[in-house]
This record gives sequence, structure tokens and C-alpha cells, in this order.
Amino acid sequence: MKYLSFSGLLSSNQVKISDIDLIFHKTDKYISEFKQGRRKWQDCCDKIMVSLFFEPSTRTRFSFEVAMHRLGGQVITLEQGLSSSIQKGESLSDMGRVVSSYGDVIIMRYPEKNSVIEFAKNTNIPVINAGDGPNEHPTQSLTDIYTIYQERGGLENLNIGIVGDLKYGRTIYSLIKLLSLFQGNKFTLISDKSFKFDRVEEFQKRNIEIIQTSNLEKHIANFDVLYVTRMQQERFANTNCKLDNANQRDYKINKKLITAAKKDLMLMHPLPRVDEISSEVDNLPQAKYFKQVENAVFIRQSLVSLLTSASK
Ligand code: NCD
Repeated sequence: MKYLSFSGLLSSNQVKISDIDLIFHKTDKYISEFKQGRRKWQDCCDKIMVSLFFEPSTRTRFSFEVAMHRLGGQVITLEQGLSSSIQKGESLSDMGRVVSSYGDVIIMRYPEKNSVIEFAKNTNIPVINAGDGPNEHPTQSLTDIYTIYQERGGLENLNIGIVGDLKYGRTIYSLIKLLSLFQGNKFTLISDKSFKFDRVEEFQKRNIEIIQTSNLEKHIANFDVLYVTRMQQERFANTNCKLDNANQRDYKINKKLITAAKKDLMLMHPLPRVDEISSEVDNLPQAKYFKQVENAVFIRQSLVSLLTSASK
């Protein structure tokens, strides 16, 4: 049996192409069995998932939990962290140590950058980062790139536009990081100047082609993928960043804009959307965001299965 190169997934920086191959291979298998009517597997029948969410979540929490149920395992959940000892002042690393004695894999979402790494320091079971503040969301990005691979059959030589709040959106870094592992991918980052991606240098140093602009209309015709994100209002409430409607570039994806794009453009979004993609676009063949939602369960099923079988 082949194993992943990491024992818990805290950052997209841990992921190698061989890991992606392994996860995708297993995901293909789960999807094909699911299509034939299978709903239950035994891969985690003796395992417990601890799901710890200190920030709102619909898709991520449900898809991890559904994945574990389908794998035959059990789930215990802490939603919104309201009933936890963090409220009493317990440190993240103590909490990690304690919680790891209750289960076999931990899914953790927390509002601060690097918090999940801190939490995982004293754990002895796999920990998966389900979003650490504005920093990373590696399993969303695995889902995103799987959806591209499924649609296009490969992950090379793509022209990728990413638009919206690139400063506070945690899927952005993880997505660019994973796609930059593959040859020939070019990135156009489109945002208002207050919401620019601030980690470009890291990629430019590696000679990854990446440009920043505020003009979506100018570039739309070039893209194979357009990845749209919402303004992360909850993250800049306490900063000087304000949604100033008078000055801010407002990006709205509608049918008219899509007519200027390639016929086989993939329009993606990690969801939830607010108003950045008009619902008139939902039934166009370019809209792939609900496909991302479907794939997320199978990607997480694969990851949980691979990580827990390696840690037996
Ligand atoms: C994303 C998140 O939580 O970062 N949602 C998700 O997990 N699918 C995107 C977002 O909240 O904007």
C-alpha cells in the first residue's frame, strides 16, 4: 500500500505531486463506486473523527463528517467551540494533546493564522487544517484542483484568473501553491488595491508567472479557469480595510461577462457566494462551483482514509 508523504495536513506546502496522484486515484475510485450505487465503505470502521470548528462552516464540516460516516467511522463534533475549555483559557497545544486521546483523526478550523499548527504540536494522531483564519485551506484547494483535473484531464499549462478578496481569502494561497507544482501554469490575480494577494514574491522567486491587476474585463478572454472569492467581511472588521463602495472595484460575474470568455472556461468558487456571481450564471456549462461541492466529500473521504490507515 502507498502512503502520503505527510502524517497530517496542516499546509499546502506539505503536498507533493505524488500525494496528489494518490489522493486523486482514491477519489476516482470512490466516485466510480458511488456512481454504481455504493454508499458505505469499511475503511475507517474502527475510527473516530473529532471535528473541531471554532468558525462558521457548512460545506467543510458536513463534507468531512459525511465522508467519515461513509467510511464506516464515527464522528464527534464541537461546533463554534462554544462548549470547549478554550473558553476557560486552555492553550491550543494543551487542547490538542487532550483531544488526540479521544479519536483517530482531528479536523480543526480556527480563526487565527497558524493556530492549527500550534494545536497539532502535541497531538499524536493526524490533524487536518480546515481553515486557519486568513491563512490556508488545503483541503478546499485539493477539491478545487481535483475538479479542474476531472474536467480537463490534467493540471498543466493553465491560464488561471483569481478574483475577489485575495488578501483575506484563505483558499488563495493554498490554491496557487498546489497549482504552481505543475508545469506551465500562469496566474492573473484580480483585485481592488486594498485586497491584493500579499504573498506574490514567494512565487515570483520560483519564476512562477503571476501578474496582479484590477481589470477583469481586460483578461477574461484568456482564462481557462476563473476562481471567484467573496469579500471576507468577518476578517477585516477590525482593520483599516473598509468596503468603500464608492472607490472599490466591484467584481460581479454575470452572463454578459461570461460571453467574453473562452467557451470551456471553468468558473469556480469555494462558496459561500454573496453577490459576486449572479445566479443567472448557475446553469451555464461554465459554472463548476456545485461540482466542487460534490467532489469535496470524495476528496475528504480519500484523505481521511489514507491518513488514518497510515497511522494504524
Ligand atoms: C471557504 C472558507 O471557509 O474559507 N469556504 C469553504 O470552506 N468552502 C471560502 C469562504 O468562506 O469564503
